[in-house]
Amino acid sequence: MIYRAYAKINLGLRIIGRRTDGYHNLESIFYRIGLFDELSLVKTDGKISLSCSNPAIPCNEENLCWKAALLLQKKLDVTLGADISLKKNIPVGGGLGGGSSDAAVVLRYLPTLWNVETEVEEIKLLALELGSDVPYFLFDSTSYGEGRGEQLTKLQLHVPYWIVLVYPNFHIATPWAYKTLSEKRMGKFPIRPSLIDDIALGDWKKILVNDFEEIVFAHHPELEDIKLKLLDFGASFSAMSGSGSSMFGLFSRENDARAALEYFSQTSFAHLTEPNFIPT
Ligand code: C5P
Repeated sequence: MIYRAYAKINLGLRIIGRRTDGYHNLESIFYRIGLFDELSLVKTDGKISLSCSNPAIPCNEENLCWKAALLLQKKLDVTLGADISLKKNIPVGGGLGGGSSDAAVVLRYLPTLWNVETEVEEIKLLALELGSDVPYFLFDSTSYGEGRGEQLTKLQLHVPYWIVLVYPNFHIATPWAYKTLSEKRMGKFPIRPSLIDDIALGDWKKILVNDFEEIVFAHHPELEDIKLKLLDFGASFSAMSGSGSSMFGLFSRENDARAALEYFSQTSFAHLTEPNFIPT
C-alpha cells in the first residue's frame, strides 16, 4: 500500500519562551501544502527494513520512519515488522516537517497492517516521543498548535491563496535556530495577543509573523531576498516556514504565482499549491 506524507508550512510561528525541559513553548498554525513524500509499507515477519530514493537520507535506526516502526513494535508488544520504502520529494531541513510526516504515516497505518488495535492517545504519545511536529501529522486537518507544538486544536481555516514555496537548496538545523533565538531573546520574548485572536480577525499580516526570521535572516540574508522577491512578484504576504530554510508567498493571482514559480525553479526547489488545498 502506498501512503502520502504531506509537507506543512507554519502560517505564523511565535516562540513564547524557553521551558525547564529545554524545549520552547510556541504558538503556530500548521497547514498542509500539496507537496508530499510517498511511503510503501509492507508487513514482514519481524524485521524492519528501509529504502529511500534520496541517498543522502540514512536508511537505518536514525531514520524517523525506522524509529516509529521500532517504537510501535516495543510499545504494542508486536513481533511483526515492516519493509518501508520512501520516495522523498520534500526537501530535508527546510522547516517543512517531511521526516515527521513520514514517521506519522508509519504510526498511523502500520498497526492496521499488523491487525493491531490502538488508542489515539497512545499513538499521540509515541508521536511526541519521535518529535514535536509528529503529533500534528497524525491528523489531516489544519491545526493551531501550542506547547511544544503537540497541544493541537483543529482549525477550519480557508487559505484562498496560491502558495509558492521556495527551498533554497541549503538546510537549517532546528536546534541551532532555537538556541540562537533563546540566547538573543532570553527573557525578552514579546507579550502579544494570542495568535488565535489574530486568526479570529483574519488578520493575515499579523498571523504571518515568524519569530525565527530575524536571527535566521541575520545568518542567511539570501532568505530575506527571497521574501522580498516573492513580494515583488505580487505575493500578498511572504514568510519563512518553521526555523527555515523554506520561504513561501501567498498569491491572490495565479499568473503572478506561476511567474514566481518559474523564476525560483531556475535556482532553487520551488513548488506551487493551489488555493484552499485539501490533502487526499
Ligand atoms: O522535537 P524535535 O526533535 O523536532 O526538536 C528538535 C530540537 O528543536 C529540539 O532538540 C529542541 O532543541 C528544539 N525545539 C524546541 N522547542 C520546541 C521544538 C523544538 O526547543 N517546541
